Amino acid sequence: MDSQELHQKLSKSVKQLMWVLATLALTLVVTVTLYFNREGLNQKLIGENTEASDSVQTEKKENDYWQPADLNLIKVASQKELVLYGKELISHTSKYLGPKGSVTQISNGMNCQNCHLDAGTKVFGNNYGSVAANYPKFRARSGTEEDIYKRVNDCFERSLNGKPLDTLSKEMQAIKAYISYIGSNIEKGKNALGSGFKELAFLDRAADQKKGKEVYAAKCQSCHQANGEGLLNAEGTEYSFPPLWGKHAYNDKAGLYRITFFARYAKYNMPLGASHENPQLSDEEAWDLAAFVNSQPRPTKSTPNDWPDISKKPIDHPFGPFYDGFSETQHKYGPFKPIKAAKDAQSKKQS
Ligand code: HEC
Ligand code: HEC
Repeated sequence: MDSQELHQKLSKSVKQLMWVLATLALTLVVTVTLYFNREGLNQKLIGENTEASDSVQTEKKENDYWQPADLNLIKVASQKELVLYGKELISHTSKYLGPKGSVTQISNGMNCQNCHLDAGTKVFGNNYGSVAANYPKFRARSGTEEDIYKRVNDCFERSLNGKPLDTLSKEMQAIKAYISYIGSNIEKGKNALGSGFKELAFLDRAADQKKGKEVYAAKCQSCHQANGEGLLNAEGTEYSFPPLWGKHAYNDKAGLYRITFFARYAKYNMPLGASHENPQLSDEEAWDLAAFVNSQPRPTKSTPNDWPDISKKPIDHPFGPFYDGFSETQHKYGPFKPIKAAKDAQSKKQS
């Protein structure tokens, strides 16, 4: 091979190498861009903790999340009327069933929608996407199989600190019809993507109510008020800003009284306008707020039949007796990692 041939060969190889490098660089750029857009650019830029997203659900794009079945597609007029009444009751519960309710007075003035956002349809806003496909189901809290009526009445008696609604009443039938209809597009036994709450990583420390109090003053108080009791609308028929504690708030056996549920709800939904794609609180703020709010006074309820099998109590269930030897305080505020590790070890032993 003479030197000219060698030169040509060399420059050809260099060119090929350049191509390979360029292709690699392009792939890298595309991958990085996709990665950063995964959860919304915003969230990454403000440095959110990615550890938090340990569920597969976070890998999916927005349009893969559950959307409620379209109410406009209901053909039978009487059915449509019932479903729409159900939606109205979820959104404005207090107007009909609150202390000044036009139908009956069985609840504390809150609306279901205060916690099940957008009438129970918001992604990771505690939505009802999985209910129709999964009830009746066994729940360890009651140790029984529960139907939708029982589950709805659980929230009336705990979250709305009220009385159960008669199963045969038009109102209960409407609520059931609405929840069943919007989730009718999920296959039996499957879970709707983005239903309930999005996971939040545990802190290494206990949640700190003192820090939570400061965050509350800075980020929550303007709406929920300094005394935590919220703000009624001008007519006094429902809350413009619902109470977080005090006489008219959820009681101590409600789901939000568990600090994991409160922290997850707050992280991905509060202050109003936050979402799983655009959270406004750091993980620490969410946990500390949960500790603060759930250490304020609120109604209590006696539920002696809850958790008949105490080994099934969730790690943040803050009432003993416990089978694992951790204190009530640690079950209420954490740190949760040691409790979780003990629980995992226990269930490994059993299986
Ligand atoms: C103070 C907040 C709050 C209010 C108000 C509230 N809920 Fe709930 N609800 C929760 C929480 C938290 C959960 C999840 C608890 C759990 O999984 O143990 C839940 C769970 C449910 C579920 C089961 C969801 C599932 O996927 O299994 C249904 C159904 C439900 N609520 C209906 C209602 C109805 C109807 C109302 C109004 C009458 C209402 N809730 C009001 C907080 C609330
Ligand atoms: C701009 C006003 C606003 C701010 C600020 C705000 N919230 Fe809310 N919050 C609301 C409204 C309105 C609802 C009810 C939403 C609905 O009914 O659609 C709500 C609902 C809630 C609920 C469930 C209902 C209840 O009363 O138990 C919790 C818990 C909550 N907020 C916590 C917080 C926390 C913690 C902060 C501070 C990080 C915060 N909010 C900041 C307006 C606000």
